[in-house]
Amino acid sequence: MKITEKDIVSGIIDDLKINKLDKINEAYVVSSNKIDYTADIVSDKVKLSHQKLVDEYVSTLNRVAAELDTVNRDDANSEDSAYRSFKLDEVYNLNGAFLHGLFFENITKSSTITVDSLAFLRLERDFGSFNDWQKDFIATAKSARNGWAVTVYNTFLKRYINVVVDLNTNNVPFSSYPIIVIDMWEHAYYSDYLDDKKKYIFAVMKQFDWQKINERFQRAEDVGEVFK
Ligand SMILES: [Fe+2]
Repeated sequence: MKITEKDIVSGIIDDLKINKLDKINEAYVVSSNKIDYTADIVSDKVKLSHQKLVDEYVSTLNRVAAELDTVNRDDANSEDSAYRSFKLDEVYNLNGAFLHGLFFENITKSSTITVDSLAFLRLERDFGSFNDWQKDFIATAKSARNGWAVTVYNTFLKRYINVVVDLNTNNVPFSSYPIIVIDMWEHAYYSDYLDDKKKYIFAVMKQFDWQKINERFQRAEDVGEVFK
């Protein structure tokens, strides 16, 4: 795509320190990882459906990224423009792939949380007790409409909160670092648990990988330092 100098507000370009005005290349390519879903909370059939979905998110993301290279920017508008559609699809598929990765990584066959771990201490600090975090996380997960429940570190509030995400993008708070993730799309539980969301949520929570999660809490502390 050719973008000429007169097409662009020069101040923006200066701010971004983009030197080559003849080309803005948005395309990127990401690859789909094989799901390492070792926990036994769902059937192989469901594990395969997750894998298929992640592969689709990744291939769609790459196609959308390539489309964004050449889509007409002059016609962009908030009603029905191709540019708007691609920008929405970009984040939808990006989040879909990313959240699945976080979800599979934070469950394992057996793991326990220790009371002196950073994960335990921070959940106790921000929710009152570990048990209160569990109760709130369960309520959060039950509230998602084909989406996700995520414990995040929010750099604005400077604390951990539980967030309901519908689909892959609705209600994602800015400035938040994801720590604990559960997939609440129907494909994640319906085949094995029917409409018993609570049973599925309990099964996942019993197999949370607290070692991995603790590493995320450690990284969130570093993120928190940056925003102090
Ligand atoms: Fe999924």
